[in-house]
Amino acid sequence: MKTILVTGGVGYIGSHTVVALQENGYKVVILDNLCNSKAITLSNIQKISSQAPIFYQGDIRDRPMLRDIFKNHPIDGVIHFAGLKAVGESQSEPLKYYDNNVVGSITLLEEMIKAKVDTFVFSSSATVYGEPGATQYQEGMPTTPINVYGRTKLMVEEILRDGAKANPGLRVACLRYFNPVGAHLSGLIGENPVGTPNNLMPYIGQIALGILPKLKVFGSDYPTPDGTGLRDYIHVHDLAQGHLLALQYLEDHPGALTVNLGTGKPYSVLEMISAFEKVSGKSIPYDLVERRSGDLAEYYANSDLAKTVLGWEAKHGIERMCEDTWRFYRQLDSAQS
Ligand code: NAD
Ligand code: WQD
Repeated sequence: MKTILVTGGVGYIGSHTVVALQENGYKVVILDNLCNSKAITLSNIQKISSQAPIFYQGDIRDRPMLRDIFKNHPIDGVIHFAGLKAVGESQSEPLKYYDNNVVGSITLLEEMIKAKVDTFVFSSSATVYGEPGATQYQEGMPTTPINVYGRTKLMVEEILRDGAKANPGLRVACLRYFNPVGAHLSGLIGENPVGTPNNLMPYIGQIALGILPKLKVFGSDYPTPDGTGLRDYIHVHDLAQGHLLALQYLEDHPGALTVNLGTGKPYSVLEMISAFEKVSGKSIPYDLVERRSGDLAEYYANSDLAKTVLGWEAKHGIERMCEDTWRFYRQLDSAQS
């Protein structure tokens, strides 16, 4: 049985990946400081997969703790989700983001290499592309991120690729996620951000529950069919499967792989609202307002590489993304009332 260290494993994408790993015969050790997640997720992971992951509450920048983990467990590989991800906050508190995301990743990588672990899967983002001059992003395109968060992701990617060049035994995969949405079929784990959500789907979910009154649709004059922004929404379950396939791929392929994980099919904000209304039976009131600063009109993935090298393809469509999000929110609501 292989053992995987999952940093940020209590968070949104991490928790779904931990479930997928445990369901596929891996043993999981989680390191998470709970700065953006709650310990209750650990018992929900256990309920879903009938197994408790080993949990360390701590920071990826804490070298003694990392040394303990690598000493005490036969770690075969690391999946590194731990990071801060709020674009606006990254602009106002850049040093916090460089420290957490870049220094944190370097510390983790150094301790991993010292412990003679050679496999590292990194949560990167479509944000690294910035504005490459095309709307369908392909891995070879220029990377010019337009915010601090995106730059931290690109820096870590480059550190990993340089590391792999210098250490021929190293195996790294940088997975560039597009817009992760959805939740586990059980309704037990999903995305439940602290405070008012920045992202579209959690915001819609909270309107459906009556927590928030109305959605602001940021921009209705984009050069898109209905004037609202187009994004490549990807079900978190499909993303989790991508991590499993990346681990398997790295077993036979030392070096560095950089790959998009998206569906290749973008939807507009109005299409997402209408799909959510259909599956939930709830009305999502909205106002069309000014564009949000830093938003692009449209981008989506070219996922050919993921299909060719990993045999990965997204299976869940927009309806399933909305159904699972809604189930998670209803469950959350009944748990809290
Ligand atoms: P999340 O905030 O739900 O999960 C991140 C987890 O990491 C949290 O549980 C948090 O407590 C933990 N964490 C943060 N800093 C840490 C540190 N220094 N030490 C230990 N634990 C720490 O976010 P998510 O949506 O699950 O994202 C996971 C990863 O995927 C992040 O690296 C994010 O940048 C990346 N990503 C997310 C998206 C998205 O839209 N959700 C898109 C592309 C990439
Ligand atoms: C989606 C669409 C908005 C909220 C962000 C990060 C990116 C990545 C994924 C981590 C856009 C519109 C949104 C609202 C709206 N994260 N919208 N009203 O901005 O595509 O990507 O999450 O790597 O780095 O930037 O996602 O969900 O915020 O927005 O109209 O209240 O919904 O304008 O068109 P985004 P999002």
